[in-house]
Amino acid sequence: MRIKTELKWSDVTPKAAWLSRRQLIAGAGALMATPALAKIDAAKSAYSISDEPNTLEQITTYNNFYEFGLDKGDPARNARLLTTDPWSVKIDGLVDRPGNYDLADLMKDAPLEERIYRFRCVEAWSMIVPWIGFELAHLLNKVGVQPGAKYVAFETLVRPEEMPGQQTAILDWPYREGLRLDEAMHPLTIMATGLYGEAMPNQNGAPIRLVVPWKYGFKSIKSVVRMSLVAEQPQTTWNMQNPREYGFYSNVNPEVDHPRWSQASERRVGAGIFAGRQDTLMFNGYAEQVAGLYAGQDLSKDY
Ligand code: MTE
Repeated sequence: MRIKTELKWSDVTPKAAWLSRRQLIAGAGALMATPALAKIDAAKSAYSISDEPNTLEQITTYNNFYEFGLDKGDPARNARLLTTDPWSVKIDGLVDRPGNYDLADLMKDAPLEERIYRFRCVEAWSMIVPWIGFELAHLLNKVGVQPGAKYVAFETLVRPEEMPGQQTAILDWPYREGLRLDEAMHPLTIMATGLYGEAMPNQNGAPIRLVVPWKYGFKSIKSVVRMSLVAEQPQTTWNMQNPREYGFYSNVNPEVDHPRWSQASERRVGAGIFAGRQDTLMFNGYAEQVAGLYAGQDLSKDY
């Protein structure tokens, strides 16, 4: 699954160029014969948006991954230390088939798709990312969710010797996140194992991370080593850190401001200094698909 490549980030750029290169390679039948340019085989998805993705360089050099430091450039500098093979994910709690699953087993017969999604950070910047992944529902169905389960709790690896940020107490490690079961089972919710057609870069959460495109980016927990099916709403890192500023739901919502800044608009990373800000979309543009999950809830309270 994890395919090494000689391509440099700076060689790989917007989708048009990338697509044409891919078509060229595929057309020449050279895909298998040219391991340096091998791509993960993933189907296109009806859930993808048609916007131009950010460049691979933007997506891999402007990151939040506090396990590797606080600055946007720290993960790109420090995450190369992380060993991602072997990797296993513990699945426990209210499931029929709990266990310590090797990543390869977990991904066996997972239908990989390319999902081009909007990605909106709570800090009011955004990107378009061409993820590769599979629906979390596929995995949950495979392990068998028991009737008492109402939430999924996720945890990131703790390995301070490879994650220098964990040598300090900037957060209460492990990084934790959670979803309500219906959110976890929604077809837009994916476990991503790559982007731009290649294995997930370490700084973006290798080898496997959550992506929930209608929620603020901090919900999309990286480098996941544990998923627990639980009956009660789990504790989550940023909510524990500051419950007033970071709710459990954290759905992208232009009408509910962060206590310290407006969420009505956002800055598209890489748009250039003259581009101006753009309006934030309700549920990050995915309202049609997900608004129904919150029918009857007051989103200014359940923020
Ligand atoms: N997951 C872990 N384990 N640690 C983190 O610090 N940061 C979150 C989220 N997942 C974070 C994490 C935040 S705040 C954002 S905006 C996204 O990852 C950033 O993802 P990206 O770097 O792939 O854009």
